[in-house]
Amino acid sequence: MPPSLAETFRNDSKRLEAALGLDAGSARIEVQCLLQVVLQVNRAHLLTHPEQILNAEQQAHFTALFERRLSGEPIAYILGEREFYGLNFRVTPATLIPRSDTELLVELALQHIPPRSAFRVLDLGTGSGALALSIAHARPEAEVTAVDASPEALDVARENAQRLNIANVRLLQSDWFSALGGERYDLIVSNPPYIAEGDAHLAQGDLRFEPRAALASGADGLDDIRRIVAGAKQHLNADGWLLFEHGYDQAERARELLRQNGYSGVFSACDLSGIERVSGGMIS
Ligand SMILES: C[S@@+](CC[C@H](N)C(=O)[O-])C[C@H]1O[C@@H](n2cnc3c(N)ncnc32)[C@H](O)[C@@H]1O
Repeated sequence: MPPSLAETFRNDSKRLEAALGLDAGSARIEVQCLLQVVLQVNRAHLLTHPEQILNAEQQAHFTALFERRLSGEPIAYILGEREFYGLNFRVTPATLIPRSDTELLVELALQHIPPRSAFRVLDLGTGSGALALSIAHARPEAEVTAVDASPEALDVARENAQRLNIANVRLLQSDWFSALGGERYDLIVSNPPYIAEGDAHLAQGDLRFEPRAALASGADGLDDIRRIVAGAKQHLNADGWLLFEHGYDQAERARELLRQNGYSGVFSACDLSGIERVSGGMIS
């Protein structure tokens, strides 16, 4: 007899916990998400039909997705989407999977952007468009430019802009500032690659499946941050801010770089775990 939904939850959640070291709650949610894709139903249906049995086709589909997850592939790539700042973003192996830690950068950015003004915002390394589109959605009158070096990532960001019906974002392929000429902005945000090339985390968990160019940045992880901090000065309007995310142990060096490059009001802000996660400064 094929397993019921209740049995699938119970048995397969345990298999995910054991194979990937997930906690019980996360494993259960992941099995739910896979079942929702296979059955094309909402979560309430799953919870209210524990006795339902999958037909052979559904069972084969579920097994195929489940085996991918069991082998470590990120759930976001299997589902093809990830929620970020209240919006659903399409993600593919060409894009970083947006992290909830990065929502801090959106919140800080929005504090700098007055509502109902044609504020010019630049997002460097936009990936799926998570930062640029969240900002543009919350500030529909802002003019947001988003760049990435990867054409494949830009295709995904473009698709997200269309799916989310966000029109105030311009997407450009650019090696950081190279395609921007003399353009200036009131605010520059970035979640750049910032992991050291030799960091063991690159060979672990979701990171194994994400684009290396989205993650690693030279021997100390700061190569791209150095380029961004130095380059942003020529692209900020007077009193414009640069805000960027960095690694858990990079805040002090990030502040040093900002001060050395003539930024004022230099600060770092903590994420929900109390870790200094975003630093920024202003060009007067
Ligand atoms: C850490 S990911 C951030 C993606 C997205 N902003 C987010 O927070 O989910 C860094 C992004 O920077 C892009 N990138 C790396 N080097 C770049 C460069 N030289 N110029 C422009 N973008 C670059 C990568 O392709 C990647 O999409």
